[in-house]
Amino acid sequence: MEYSFGFMFVGFLLVTGSASPIEHDYCVIGAGPAGLQIGYFLHKAHRNYVILEKSSSAGSFYTKYPIHRKLISINKIYTGRDNKEYNLRHDWNSLLSDDDRMLFKQFSRQMFPPADVMVTYLDSYARHFNLTIRYNTEISDIHSLHGNASTKIGMKDQNGNNYLCRVAIVATGIWKPRIPDIPGHELMDGYEDLSLNASDYEGKSVMILGRGNSAFETATAIYDKTNFVHMVGRHRLRFAWETHYVGDLRAVNNELLDTYQLKSLDGLLEYDINDYKVVRQGGHLYLRENPPPGSQWEEYDNDPLLTPYDKIIRCLGFQFDSSIFRKVSDVASRPSQKYPFIDYDYRSPVVDGLYFTGTIAHSLDYRQSAGGFIHGFRYSARVLSKILNWRYHQERWPSEILPLSNLTTAIIRRVNEASGLYQMFAYLGDIILLSKDGLCEYIEEYPVKLIHRFSEVTGIDTQNKQVLVVLLQYGEGFHGPEEDVFRVDRAATDPEYADYSNFLHPVVHYFQEIPKEQNIRRKKWSHPLPPADKIHHVLEDFSANWDRPLTHVKPLDVFLRRTLKDLYNIKCASTTNMFSQYSISSKSLDSQHCIAT
Ligand SMILES: Cc1cc2nc3c(=O)[nH]c(=O)nc-3n(C[C@H](O)[C@H](O)[C@H](O)COP(=O)(O)OP(=O)(O)OC[C@H]3O[C@@H](n4cnc5c(N)ncnc54)[C@H](O)[C@@H]3O)c2cc1C
Ligand SMILES: *[C@@H]1O[C@H](CO)[C@@H](O)[C@H](O)[C@H]1NC(C)=O
Ligand SMILES: *[C@@H]1O[C@H](CO)[C@@H](O)[C@H](O)[C@H]1NC(C)=O
Ligand SMILES: *[C@@H]1O[C@H](CO)[C@@H](O)[C@H](O)[C@H]1NC(C)=O
Ligand SMILES: *[C@@H]1O[C@H](CO)[C@@H](O)[C@H](O)[C@H]1NC(C)=O
Repeated sequence: MEYSFGFMFVGFLLVTGSASPIEHDYCVIGAGPAGLQIGYFLHKAHRNYVILEKSSSAGSFYTKYPIHRKLISINKIYTGRDNKEYNLRHDWNSLLSDDDRMLFKQFSRQMFPPADVMVTYLDSYARHFNLTIRYNTEISDIHSLHGNASTKIGMKDQNGNNYLCRVAIVATGIWKPRIPDIPGHELMDGYEDLSLNASDYEGKSVMILGRGNSAFETATAIYDKTNFVHMVGRHRLRFAWETHYVGDLRAVNNELLDTYQLKSLDGLLEYDINDYKVVRQGGHLYLRENPPPGSQWEEYDNDPLLTPYDKIIRCLGFQFDSSIFRKVSDVASRPSQKYPFIDYDYRSPVVDGLYFTGTIAHSLDYRQSAGGFIHGFRYSARVLSKILNWRYHQERWPSEILPLSNLTTAIIRRVNEASGLYQMFAYLGDIILLSKDGLCEYIEEYPVKLIHRFSEVTGIDTQNKQVLVVLLQYGEGFHGPEEDVFRVDRAATDPEYADYSNFLHPVVHYFQEIPKEQNIRRKKWSHPLPPADKIHHVLEDFSANWDRPLTHVKPLDVFLRRTLKDLYNIKCASTTNMFSQYSISSKSLDSQHCIAT
């Protein structure tokens, strides 16, 4: 009796009350830069979409972070050029759009702008493009609903409204502080609620846990007031200039290195914090070894960590909040995972119709490219929009058909101009499909880790086609902590030795046919692609202009003519084998033999 009553009550609510679900084809969760960027593309494509945002304005992350209010993304106003696409190579803050009024330089002229300007910018962007955003809507209980024909995604907000979405795109960012699970962790101050009051640090002895930009940003903000700052981390310092990874320590934050090495009391230490506990004794904080029961650790009386501290500040980064899902196991194997499960097409491998975008999807190029930052994920969001267009609306990826005679010029133009290839280096590549009739189909900015699923992802046929993949890459021995990136012999200057290029440069990979699943398994971890049939390096260039007729264009042209000689319908002299199968240089190759007649 009671059961059937309850059931009828629910049924009643479903048809008449507020519990009847709000339905959309696309539900984007989060109106940070990533949610706005995918929203822009959905809006432009006239999709039925909504962006659901828990706070009352867009870009709320930046109302608080970074705590000391200076962005570390470059806002370089002048490049000497007026090519809009090229200029995005040096503008790390703008979202993509077709309206110049929505470029970040219209909002700030500072190289490293204040974070408040980002909030203003994101809000203006959302308004300008009339993006459909429901503010003050905090989403939870995301789950999969299996219907007869299709699966949908259900979720609810804090007011009990239900949403039903064909596709859900999670853009909730990474904002949950990572707190080490050690005794006494509650005695530390967290980066997320640091005092900005200078007098709280005057004459204080401070330890900062962490090695990233937030740790160093904090050190820079307080080191002129403290007795000293000790910074503790597990690894050797990783400079962005050595690793070419913008998430590593940036020069704009590194002042404390001087006061360490010029003996002004600050210093860096390498310890694994998980072996310690925090204790308070006599008004001071100490880190004490916390040996597992039974083990005997020797303590030396010169251990730097015996220092008494007034404050211990943790700046250990952030993680994804998986609690917005009904089942954590849908998105992570444990709640403390930094990133959710995700495939290279930004899709959940577990829940049908669930996608991720923004900094949350950075696991795909973590410590490699720029996908965790605005200047990287604005391109990933555009890629995602193209993936969705084909998968759900049968709209193929855009492509351009070129005659073979225009191929060299087209590649040279793209490598000198395209911003997506430049920011998402070694990750997004231009794909060129070559058919027997000598026509080239040119597809821009494809995530090359999905090369073996090209047709499925783009809707473009690859049968009987040879393939070129154009990427920008750094040289292999020029990448990583402890690399001397300033050594005097760092640059290759002779086109014959283009494959020794160290700095970012174009690399053209040739495949007789599109790589298959089994080829992908032969891919080396550090390589963006499986082994190619031929590779051509375009010589590195001091100003990253790869357009010199003799050093850049001609060697590329010769490579293409030799590699695709059946298409160019020419006979190349079979030159000596003193060249590797890889780079082919212009100087030593008698290029006359390779010019079409
Ligand atoms: C300290 C720090 C400094 C940084 N500085 C820079 C920088 O200078 N430049 C740069 O490019 N990158 C910077 N980053 C990286 C930065 O995280 C990203 O650029 C950016 O904020 C990520 O954008 P996003 O849209 O993916 O996520 P967010 O900007 O975090 O946006 C997520 C949005 O989702 C909303 N949301 C969350 N949960 C819910 C929910 N359950 N329901 C509804 N809405 C929800 C949030 O309110 C928020 O508006 C920094 C990161 C950190 C940690
Ligand atoms: C946004 O909407 C306003 C009012 O409807 C309209 O005037 C404006 O052109 C729209 N902007 C864009 C970029 O579509
Ligand atoms: C499933 O299919 C049946 C028969 O076609 C239909 O009556 C029912 O409403 C469908 N259920 C859902 C949830 O779509
Ligand atoms: C800063 O802190 C000092 C003491 O720690 C206090 O007297 C002062 O009022 C604080 N200033 C602000 C602006 O909160
Ligand atoms: C090919 O190149 C020629 C000469 O530069 C140019 O005029 C033509 O527009 C190009 N064709 C295409 C399809 O790009």
